[in-house]
Amino acid sequence: MRVLITGHCGYIGPVMIRLFHQAGHEVVGYDTGYFRDQIEDASKDCHPDREIAGDIRNIDEAAFRGIDAVVHLAALSNDPMGDIVAAKTDDINTGGTGRCGAMAKKAGVRRFVMASSCSLYGASGASAGALDESAPFAPVSAYARSKVDGEAALQALADKDFEPVLLRNATAYGVSARTRLDLVLNNLMAYGYTTGVIRVLSDGTPCRPMVHIEDISRAALCAAQAPVGGLKHTVFNVGGRNCNYTVREIAEIAAAALPGCRIEITGETGGDPRSYKVDFTRALTELPGFDPQWNLEKGAAELLAWLKLHKPDADDLLGERYIRLKRIQTLRSSGRIDADFRWTDHG
Ligand SMILES: NC(=O)c1ccc[n+]([C@@H]2O[C@H](COP(=O)([O-])OP(=O)(O)OC[C@H]3O[C@@H](n4cnc5c(N)ncnc54)[C@H](O)[C@@H]3O)[C@@H](O)[C@H]2O)c1
Repeated sequence: MRVLITGHCGYIGPVMIRLFHQAGHEVVGYDTGYFRDQIEDASKDCHPDREIAGDIRNIDEAAFRGIDAVVHLAALSNDPMGDIVAAKTDDINTGGTGRCGAMAKKAGVRRFVMASSCSLYGASGASAGALDESAPFAPVSAYARSKVDGEAALQALADKDFEPVLLRNATAYGVSARTRLDLVLNNLMAYGYTTGVIRVLSDGTPCRPMVHIEDISRAALCAAQAPVGGLKHTVFNVGGRNCNYTVREIAEIAAAALPGCRIEITGETGGDPRSYKVDFTRALTELPGFDPQWNLEKGAAELLAWLKLHKPDADDLLGERYIRLKRIQTLRSSGRIDADFRWTDHG
């Protein structure tokens, strides 16, 4: 298959490209490149076979000609970014997703896999039990709302010839050629390693489902390969087995991987309104070939090896190299991208 991955120059992209290559597929990447040069230790199989530099808000049909399946990752991709630039999040994540879907359909692509997010269950509350795909949405951020609206934009295009699959990924962790420290496990591990203290600013009670980026990529591969018309459902929560944790439990797993490190639950930000447990039965039983390989302990060990190799210092923990919001802010303040988040110095 020839697969087009949008947003391939981000955190998940290099791991996903490697998995698609290992499965024998050709990969075309399409990305505007906010993080393109922030790549480290990338083996050849982490790079696409062909790359298009472009903004999904302007993507046209030509990009999708000859493509068998699309995996759509391109987005402003987390809550802090979404909150600071809510209008752009809507523009890129909702508008851009709708445009990608419409252009792909026009070009005759039949399978379109969207990286959605469990954050659309946001404020459901852990007492509601584990939520399956029919649970009501309760988004608490511009980012989560953009995923609700992006899903709807694709569903509106669905017919017998164009079948979007919506993958509601849990909170990601893991090492990539663009490892990020703005995700809960990665962040707690990095602080613990660098300062000896794992500080949890909330009261530790919010619940989060967790998934490794390789298992996110695995689910996307299974969905891309599934024959059109052959799936009973096209919306899946994507996580590992037994992967619902409280933030306190995540901190305890990080601390267990970092001998001598202590946990401080400061509670200074109080309870976090984002708290939910998710049921992953459908993906585990119905998504053909999906077999998650990671758990949080294994992920913590992988991150420790990465930390020992890269030795981030205290500045790195807050800086643009590993924190996506900081990178976007730097691109804005230096004038390299304009208020519309378009490049001023190249196309
Ligand atoms: N990381 C997570 O915890 C997580 C969890 C659930 C879902 N997801 C989703 O998975 C996808 C990938 O996540 P990630 O962590 O790799 O994100 P990322 O921010 O690291 O990468 C996103 C990529 O999209 C590109 N992009 C942004 N706006 C664009 C535009 N207008 N045109 C073209 N490219 C554009 C960026 O340059 C970047 O390379 C996102 O849609 C995200 O919402 C991520």
